[in-house]
Amino acid sequence: MATIRLGDVAPDFTADSSQGMINLYDYLGDGWGILFSHPADFTPVCTTELGTASKFKKEFDKRNVKMLALSVDGKLSHNEWIKDINETQHTVVNFPIIADENKKVSILYDMIHPNANDHLTVRSVYIIAPDKTVKLMITYPASTGRNFHELLRVIDSLQLTAYHKVATPANWEHGDDVVVSPSIATEDAKKIFSKGVKEIKPYLRMTPDPTT
Ligand code: BEZ
Repeated sequence: MATIRLGDVAPDFTADSSQGMINLYDYLGDGWGILFSHPADFTPVCTTELGTASKFKKEFDKRNVKMLALSVDGKLSHNEWIKDINETQHTVVNFPIIADENKKVSILYDMIHPNANDHLTVRSVYIIAPDKTVKLMITYPASTGRNFHELLRVIDSLQLTAYHKVATPANWEHGDDVVVSPSIATEDAKKIFSKGVKEIKPYLRMTPDPTT
């Protein structure tokens, strides 16, 4: 297992899931992907996360992001657990959960952190771009459920900055002003960003979100 870092190509794999065999690259096609691990089936925080994730699927769809969860239990267990998730979270789990019983994918993606727990995954999140490179990695402990609003916010930033020469400031949300990339001279920025550029400092130039 090699450590995965930002910018690396996301390792491909084929694995069984709650919806049958899945090859990561085929599943993602030429869109974006989010791969997120869960410590184990029939656990309370994971149950709420998967319920929430399924309610957010339409937002991920809008951004052309395919969702893929993972837990180190088997497919039969996943499918029984999904019934509980649907019942208790009032939803329908509408994306696959990888059945990583042999921990092949968890090890490939460094999702088991032995000093936290030697046999369950932590809550890893990988966001994968259409070119299959890893654009974001976040690791949460088992005791903290993820904030799916934040994951969508980060995807908005990644997608904006992939196509425009901007970066997003602290707490940025879609529609807020953005930062002009430091690599662009202010004179050039004024030509590129038709909505205007405000120079607060030579290194801190703001412009309205170019997509709104
Ligand atoms: C949970 O999902 O609730 C959980 C899983 C493993 C350890 C602690 C909590």
